[in-house]
Amino acid sequence: MAKPVTIRPATQADARAIAELYQIAAEGVADYIWQGLEDEYPGLSGVEIGAARYARPNELFSYENCLMAEVDGHVAGMVMAFVTETDGEPLPDDFDPVIRPFAELEEDKSLYISGIAVFEQFRGLGIGTTLMDEVEQRARRDAHPSLSLIVFEANQGAARLYQRLGFEETARRAIYPHPLIHVTGDALLMVRPLD
Ligand SMILES: CC(C)(COP(=O)(O)OP(=O)(O)OC[C@H]1O[C@@H](n2cnc3c(N)ncnc32)[C@H](O)[C@@H]1OP(=O)(O)O)[C@@H](O)C(=O)NCCC(=O)NCCS
Repeated sequence: MAKPVTIRPATQADARAIAELYQIAAEGVADYIWQGLEDEYPGLSGVEIGAARYARPNELFSYENCLMAEVDGHVAGMVMAFVTETDGEPLPDDFDPVIRPFAELEEDKSLYISGIAVFEQFRGLGIGTTLMDEVEQRARRDAHPSLSLIVFEANQGAARLYQRLGFEETARRAIYPHPLIHVTGDALLMVRPLD
């Protein structure tokens, strides 16, 4: 019989697991961002830089915006979500071209799922769906108009999961090629209105 899954808010002590899971979800985009922060965190690896970032309170990319899934007392997965507010202004010409597609794919006032991942040995057991359900409940409780997320078109398994949960593509941008980014093709903004 499958072991029960517990969902709980993350604590600062989860920052390392959050970084490891975020790294899996982001297909190299997190590594790219962490590499750009190396001067601020001398001697730390990418995941260690990520952990240091996620351990900070009062930030969007913080453990405070994460839920953890646990099986038998072990972290199995996480989801990070926060509200996005866009001013609708175009990004400046000199905006980082690798990050630009993701910065442009925003749904104003939506509860944005910035990352979701389950460690490989725990996949296909319903944990990702349970994490998404928890985020949906939170969004409804706080009266957010929609849920949104970005998925790489190449990640067909994840895209299928989101479609099953009622998300629809509303915009897409080409991924800017970079040696650290493992995927090519388009990134899709998927939105699920909540009524
Ligand atoms: C996407 C992910 C979070 C889903 O978590 P999960 O616990 O395996 O999901 P569930 O068991 O609730 O649902 C399984 C569904 O996830 C999708 N899926 C994607 N990759 C999968 C994998 N390697 N194994 C199993 N299911 C996978 C499938 O659509 C599957 O649905 P199906 O049964 O119709 O094929 C998980 O596969 C994962 O961490 N993948 C790597 C990171 C990632 O791609 N994150 C999303 C970035 S947008």
